[in-house]
Amino acid sequence: MNGKYRSQNWFGKTGKDGFIYRAWMKNQGIPTHEFDGRPVIGICNTWSELTPCNAHFRELAESVKHGVYEAGGFPVEFPVMSLGETLIKPTAMLYRNLASMDVEESIRANPVDGVVLLCGCDKTTPSLVMGACSVNIPTIVVSGGPMLTGKFQGKDIGTSDVWRFNDAVRSGAMDQDQLVMAEASMCRSRGHCAVMGTASTMASMVESLGLSLPHNAAIPAADARRKVLAHLSGIRAVELVRNQVNISDILTKEAFENAIIINAAIGGSTNFIIHLLAIAGRIGVDLSLDDFDRLSRNVPLIANLQPSGKYFMEDLYYAGGIPSVMRELDSFLHKDCITVNGKTIGENFQKEECYNRQVIATVNQPFNELSGVAVIKGNLCENGAVIKPSAASSHLLQHTGKAVVFEDIEDYKARIDDPNLDVDENSILVLKNVGPKGYPGMPEVGNMGIPTKLLAKGVTDMVRISDGRMSGTGFGTVVLHVSPEAALGGNFAVVQNGDLISLDVPGRSITLHVSEEELKERKKRWKPRIKNYDRGYVHLYQTHVEQAHLGADLDFLKGSSGSEVTRDSH
Ligand code: FES
Ligand code: MG
Repeated sequence: MNGKYRSQNWFGKTGKDGFIYRAWMKNQGIPTHEFDGRPVIGICNTWSELTPCNAHFRELAESVKHGVYEAGGFPVEFPVMSLGETLIKPTAMLYRNLASMDVEESIRANPVDGVVLLCGCDKTTPSLVMGACSVNIPTIVVSGGPMLTGKFQGKDIGTSDVWRFNDAVRSGAMDQDQLVMAEASMCRSRGHCAVMGTASTMASMVESLGLSLPHNAAIPAADARRKVLAHLSGIRAVELVRNQVNISDILTKEAFENAIIINAAIGGSTNFIIHLLAIAGRIGVDLSLDDFDRLSRNVPLIANLQPSGKYFMEDLYYAGGIPSVMRELDSFLHKDCITVNGKTIGENFQKEECYNRQVIATVNQPFNELSGVAVIKGNLCENGAVIKPSAASSHLLQHTGKAVVFEDIEDYKARIDDPNLDVDENSILVLKNVGPKGYPGMPEVGNMGIPTKLLAKGVTDMVRISDGRMSGTGFGTVVLHVSPEAALGGNFAVVQNGDLISLDVPGRSITLHVSEEELKERKKRWKPRIKNYDRGYVHLYQTHVEQAHLGADLDFLKGSSGSEVTRDSH
């Protein structure tokens, strides 16, 4: 090795090997001096026209390159698997771990000293961060930014309205033509979902972890300041390499705790739990479901953002963004966690102001005392389940009702609109076999629609329980991530129509009122109801995926293999 960075194991070589590593690069017009040992910065790009939330990323990558050049680095942009939330069937989540493998191997196998991760749509953030953790070189995240707030018939709209529109169409309050008009009104600019859905939650997560520059989460994609942030991130990537700050130096246990506290205060998505657990598993930080409950229990909701509140990400940026939220949380946070700009998180938020108290409240006068995610336990979910209290109906947080059971998604679709379905507003809807192995891939169907005949009566929320996930844009009294999932044959697998279930969110419990003997009997008769795939990635996934309470990563992907590659290609 001639120079001090890992890229010199390629570009710094003499003879045949160095020739091979440099010569083909030169067909892109790269002059010889770029290979002189300066930091090589990979720009890991999830651009794709099939991931519309990330469709502007080639332009964003150009801004990163300006910054890298300015700081004396050599930028190289490369594509990785991109996961578009809205198009990929059966669910983008099935491929999160596959994309993370692509990212990990692409970074390790190539001559890059540091990496800028361009993330946007929901799964593109965790998959890239997971992959980068398993290599552990200097890493900085640039998110694509949220869309501008949607405008429809005089109202502000965003992705959470999809669920309202769905109910309005089913109850006859809205027709198909209006629905089509709403499409373009909602998605009227570049960027990802404009509510505090999973994409915004993930962008806030990386900012809270210290993996991005301040304000990364909320600057709209269409705002020129998004390009400035990308440019500055390019500069910082070079400096991180020069200072040899690896991603593991940023991702301490305290950084994870900060992310959990901030996620609670902003009403972030329940998907946050699953992705943060998976990231912790890669970087080797000990984190469990109980940490989420413990750390978010006393944190109030101070961001008034849909789906828990009223406003959109654009409003959050103008009100002061995540740094302003952090400043309100001063007494909760570990302030000396180091971030990618070289300063501590406390130094970063110290001088931030709040410019709109309708959007960011104080801790003393919050929008809701309830926030975050409650982890609930009981005989229905031996390894836990989660609920987002701020997005639930207060009158249902303690509720007992009779189960109306759907054995799988096809069963649900076949019967939910049946006028003879034996259900009322006190019933509890149970949906099985939508977990990691069962679906497979754990889709966002947990906030299943209310039975049509109850919608007609004006019912807008019911207790719903499943082993699936919910879109970060979704809301309702929805118990998710039941573990073990139905496909594994635990108690959840043998719930029957008419069983009494008690949900007690303040008491953090969920109880299936069926005797142990009866449950044992039912398990003897139980047969799995899932399709097993015998080839390809889905086979690998079904064989190795872990349960939701562990982050649903593949068991063999946990941890890191480092960045070293000792053998040459020719
Ligand atoms: Fe991409 Fe919502 S669909 S962020
Ligand atoms: Mg989603």
